[in-house]
Amino acid sequence: MNRTLGVLISGRGSNLKAIIDAIEHGRLDARIAVVISNRADAPGLVHAIRAGIETLVLNHKEYATREDYDRALIHELRKRDVSLVCLAGFMRLLSPVFVDAFPDRILNIHPSLLPKYPGLQPQQQALDDGASESGATVHLVNKDLDAGPVVMQARVPVLAGDTADTLAARILELEHRLYPAAIAAVLDGTQS
Ligand code: GRF
Repeated sequence: MNRTLGVLISGRGSNLKAIIDAIEHGRLDARIAVVISNRADAPGLVHAIRAGIETLVLNHKEYATREDYDRALIHELRKRDVSLVCLAGFMRLLSPVFVDAFPDRILNIHPSLLPKYPGLQPQQQALDDGASESGATVHLVNKDLDAGPVVMQARVPVLAGDTADTLAARILELEHRLYPAAIAAVLDGTQS
């Protein structure tokens, strides 16, 4: 596969920024062909614009069905020869149409040690569960939410007095190192 990435975001885009930085600093040998957001006001778009990367807004509300939206995404990604799709805070469920278009070629990052705490608010789930550690997982996306094969994980302790916000911040720092490393491993075919 080529080393052309498409990054999908919906919000802040700090993981996108970490991927851009890793490429710029030579820690990740890849090229981001396009950053697509489903929200025009996603703050993260600015990271792509500043780096001279093409951005595209595809508003899901303008499509009749989830599949129609996903077909539009596929079209834009294929047009740019993207071989690896990186979800970075993309808050949309992807249909089987999308997953089948990029088999084993879609990555997601999730702020927990999957299979623990999938879905929403995983940091709060970890606290509610009394977990002594949590972390981040980069995994391949399949048709089940947060359930695809794990590519890489990293751990952080849960500390006394942690709130969902303090735990999220500790995990996020880890995410920014983990995601570029996991992308490199997938591109190099060295992931476990
Ligand atoms: C991250 O915590 C990521 O693990 C989750 O959504 C958040 C996105 O943050 N999937 P950002 O937009 O990359 O800053």
